[in-house]
Amino acid sequence: MSSSLEQIKAVKDALPQHVAIIMDGNGRWAQQRGKLRVLGHQAGVKAVRKVVSLATQLELKSLTLFAFSSENWRRPEEEVSSLMNLFLSVLQREVKKLKNNNVRLRIVGDTSRFSDKLRQRIQAAEQMTADNDGLILNIAANYGGRWDIAQAAQQLAQQVAEGTLQASDIDEQALNQQIAAESVADIDLLIRTGGEKRISNFLLWQMAYAELFFSDVLWPDFDEQAFAAALACYVQRERRFGCTGEQVRKLLISNSMNEENFA
Ligand code: IPE
Ligand code: IPE
Ligand code: MG
Repeated sequence: MSSSLEQIKAVKDALPQHVAIIMDGNGRWAQQRGKLRVLGHQAGVKAVRKVVSLATQLELKSLTLFAFSSENWRRPEEEVSSLMNLFLSVLQREVKKLKNNNVRLRIVGDTSRFSDKLRQRIQAAEQMTADNDGLILNIAANYGGRWDIAQAAQQLAQQVAEGTLQASDIDEQALNQQIAAESVADIDLLIRTGGEKRISNFLLWQMAYAELFFSDVLWPDFDEQAFAAALACYVQRERRFGCTGEQVRKLLISNSMNEENFA
């Protein structure tokens, strides 16, 4: 492990618990090499392995990867179908490794539009890793942040119609419990590769207080060093959650004093 990774490990307590990544730039990576876009997506799988491996080594709690957005259906049919095939084969190939590495795999998104075969494989992969208690790996597939909020609202409306919930009891907590990616909780660090500086309808609700990190690296070139650089940048940030910087620093000092007393 290189020295910068060692340094990251040294500040483990300050690392984000939940990292989400918009894995962008596969198409441009391929085009720059005169290759078909699908080869960029295939090359992107290697980068996925690298970030999952580092997240496991660093014992991050959860990692959420944006694999296919609800808007990506707008792409040419052949690109969509090659992405679906890739998804199928990667699920098949990688799930055993995830199981052995204590990774719990979850697919987040509207899977109803996927083929029966893909849905069955998703279910099998989730079941195979369900008892793992290491890294939670969420793959956002046919996911849209607005879809997530709308489906949560629909479930709450259903409960009101059935008389099990009062409309006046609908608050942030109630909505949070119905959000599809609720189980992975708030995002601490969002990374987007590929140079674009936008959210593209990713986890809108869960991103309320995320630290944002944009990288120009195209996804297939994103490796442990690039991930470590994003984590190092996060560690330097001061998260205030609406407080003043002074309040946050006081809180950090009193927390560290309590820890010393505890030890
Ligand atoms: C991200 O890479 C992967 C998916 C959206 C599935 P892109 O395919 O968007 O790559 P660029 O942005 O065209 O380079
Ligand atoms: C976002 O990338 C979706 C994924 C990475 C899966 P896009 O490449 O689809 O985003 P836009 O269209 O450029 O905003
Ligand atoms: Mg893109």
